[in-house]
Amino acid sequence: MIYLDNAATSWPKPQEVSDAVLHYMRDVGGSPGRSGHRLSIAAARIVYDTRELLASLFNVPDPLSITLCANATTAINQVLYGFLHPGDHVVTTSMEHNAVMRPLRHLQSLGVEVTVVACAPDGRLDARHMESAIRADTKLVVMNHASNVVGTILPVAEVGAITVHRGIPFLVDAAQTAGVCAIDCQAMNIDLLAFTGHKALFGPQGTGGLWVGSRIDTARLLPLTRGGTGSQSELEEQPGFLPDRYESGTSNTPGIAGLGASVRYVLEHGVPHIRRHEQELTAQLIQGLKAIPGVQVYGTGDARLQTATVSFNLSGMEPSDVALRLDDDFGVLCRPGLQCAPSAHRTLGTFPHGTVRFGLSYLNSVQDVCSAVEAVAQVARHATPG
Ligand SMILES: Cc1ncc(COP(=O)(O)O)c(C=O)c1O
Repeated sequence: MIYLDNAATSWPKPQEVSDAVLHYMRDVGGSPGRSGHRLSIAAARIVYDTRELLASLFNVPDPLSITLCANATTAINQVLYGFLHPGDHVVTTSMEHNAVMRPLRHLQSLGVEVTVVACAPDGRLDARHMESAIRADTKLVVMNHASNVVGTILPVAEVGAITVHRGIPFLVDAAQTAGVCAIDCQAMNIDLLAFTGHKALFGPQGTGGLWVGSRIDTARLLPLTRGGTGSQSELEEQPGFLPDRYESGTSNTPGIAGLGASVRYVLEHGVPHIRRHEQELTAQLIQGLKAIPGVQVYGTGDARLQTATVSFNLSGMEPSDVALRLDDDFGVLCRPGLQCAPSAHRTLGTFPHGTVRFGLSYLNSVQDVCSAVEAVAQVARHATPG
């Protein structure tokens, strides 16, 4: 079996990750920040260590400004619903995942004005178009770091230079890049970073977080969930400080233990090294797919400009039929269709059928790519030309 659905969720995970989850479940088990006994303190230590590792990965000065939650979707919803009000204006791009688009479209129905800046048919964004869309009353700019459909990397640093100059909060969806592309929140002038733990970070599902930068006035970023935090228990109002303001209820501590181990793994291997390996595999995959008659590869076609997520179609076949053949006959697992990103597919010209998506990971090999390309070639040989 060759697992190429890493853009949905990475698998396998490094051994250290399941070891850390098991260690927490078997030997720790306490509730972090709640009780003060030794197991509670041990759990709190694990959670703090995870924040520290993430702070190092994203180059943010204060680990406590990283709030942990279930996934990138929760983090994005926290910002969009906690920050935007009817009458506010927000700018985004046409390459967004529905984790951004659906909350924005709902907020639009409540009176928030949404400007969607069109990206090119290969997914690229011209930062100057973002600048033109920003108005005096723009309250937030939100954008993807890389497309989950074609991997195209968006110019976050360029847009960050514009937003910081204009004094507009900048939210980046790093679901597809955390762990595989360099993310320096300070250098890139990011104000809010939403990330997920279970993709290129190799953490367990149900982990993720939101980094809140110091330019954000947290009094104006309302928590979506209020409740027990283990802190200021004498108060019936939500604490104002980070991370407790956005972390109510008992956390997914086994998952956070796994996330800590996975971020440590990523840091030890090094993001530049991980990126280099993925880039080599991506170049090999694109070249191999393009050489197959009847295959159309989408995106920039340049591994330097994208992550290891490659979308293609086979002439005369539905993406879902291609994926089924690949799974049934060759054990190649991938994701067909719209991948929760209809706006991105409209941009690429692949709506409504979508694409076949191969999402590689650092743990894939040259041999995996050779076998996957050969499997597509075999399916193509039996496809009816469309
Ligand atoms: C670009 C992008 N944003 C957000 C998400 C949502 O991530 P999660 O499902 O972990 O909330 C995904 C997941 O596929 C994604 O690819």
